[in-house]
Amino acid sequence: MAIRTILEFPDPRLRTRAQPVTRFDADLHRVIDDMLETMYAAPGIGLAATQVDVHQRLVVIDISDDRNDPLVLINPEILSREGETATEEGCLSVPGYFDEVKRASKIRVRAQDRDGKVFERDCEEILAVCVQHEMDHIDGKLFVDYLSSLKRERVRKKLEKERKERAARASAPERRRSAL
Ligand code: NI
Repeated sequence: MAIRTILEFPDPRLRTRAQPVTRFDADLHRVIDDMLETMYAAPGIGLAATQVDVHQRLVVIDISDDRNDPLVLINPEILSREGETATEEGCLSVPGYFDEVKRASKIRVRAQDRDGKVFERDCEEILAVCVQHEMDHIDGKLFVDYLSSLKRERVRKKLEKERKERAARASAPERRRSAL
């Protein structure tokens, strides 16, 4: 297993619409295991393949307190939606930013597991929100798309500034000072 690099907004690769998974083989299992490791290390409660630059319809989620109950959704589809909830969301691809998004409070989802077996699951509360958030990713959509364009632009500028500062720090010659 390996930790993969998470793409950050506004990276254009995050806008890719992912393709259905057709082969449930060792390569897929490697991607799933890497995604789980990446999600746990971040740490996050959900990660879509798009975020690690793999453009397949695959998401991993773990909302458990003990971080030992992974849910893998392959080729997920939402069969029904009910109610509305507003949740303060964040995203590993939009680090350090949180804002309220309205979504369905209950959904029924159909997906395949890592071996291709079809299953259905009712999700509510944070799990429902998380599934909808991750499924947006595989359609090239981010939670900041639900905000005003003014807010989104502010987030983009803030992240770009932080990235530049990080890069400058990394390339700056190391200065050593000794107090004698
Ligand atoms: Ni996200």
